[in-house]
Amino acid sequence: MQIEKTAAGVRAQVKAWKKEGLSVGLVPTMGYLHEGHKSLIDRAVEENDRVVVSIFVNPIQFGPTEDLETYPRDLEADRKLCEQAGASLIFAPEASEMYSEDFSTFVDAGKVTEELCGKSRPTHFRGVCTVVNKLFNIVAPDRAYFGQKDAQQLAVIRRMVRDLNMDLEIIGCPIIREEDGLAKSSRNTYLSDEERKAALVLSKAIFAAKAMAEGGEKDGDKILETMKNIIKKAEPLARIDYVEMVRWDTIEIHHTIDGPTLIAIAVFIGKTRLIDNVLLQ
Ligand code: PAF
Repeated sequence: MQIEKTAAGVRAQVKAWKKEGLSVGLVPTMGYLHEGHKSLIDRAVEENDRVVVSIFVNPIQFGPTEDLETYPRDLEADRKLCEQAGASLIFAPEASEMYSEDFSTFVDAGKVTEELCGKSRPTHFRGVCTVVNKLFNIVAPDRAYFGQKDAQQLAVIRRMVRDLNMDLEIIGCPIIREEDGLAKSSRNTYLSDEERKAALVLSKAIFAAKAMAEGGEKDGDKILETMKNIIKKAEPLARIDYVEMVRWDTIEIHHTIDGPTLIAIAVFIGKTRLIDNVLLQ
């Protein structure tokens, strides 16, 4: 498996693959890979002749008070995971390779970025769309793979691809959970033992919401109230950022289940902000 640091190196390799008629899948990541990322790479390996995994902690999607500096990194462990999963190439650029000093072009997907995470992280999706756009331009994949755990990100990227006529398929993959229910995340490593226990309120709230909806409850306010009560039990370690229900395609607030609906939460456990969600089709 190859590791490339430059966009030109990736382009040259992908060009050679395409000349041979091979299909290319892309799994964009920020590294510190876990089972959730592995499930994306596995799916990409199944569906493509060659798979590129990008590993880049994208500075422009972090707010000024967020964890850019402390975000966990371990390229050697990532390399092993990618190799074992059957990826063909890792693209691991430095920030200077991706952003020149006078970089000034950004992609903004508009309204779909405004609720949920976009409310508390107002520049986040602009950073995500911009870097994902650059990765699509560098790798020119046939398919790109994103986890449903970052549900709003998936909806935003689908919107960007549709609106900008990008010629690739976006594949959403299911959330991968720890045995006790906690959604896998690179940020789980920040949690102390006590916080790790408290973090279970996220999946408990999500599972309760799913059970209520599957039991026929259509009233979003009732479901959201139940979720908030579950999370409040873990106070003071747990602090709600949002507990919301939105239409899945537009990410607009909508408190009745009458079509594809996303129930999503963001909760601070100590200083660590975790997210989880369930999609009701
Ligand atoms: O989901 C992530 O890890 C990041 O937001 C992504 C898509 C790799 C862009 O930096």
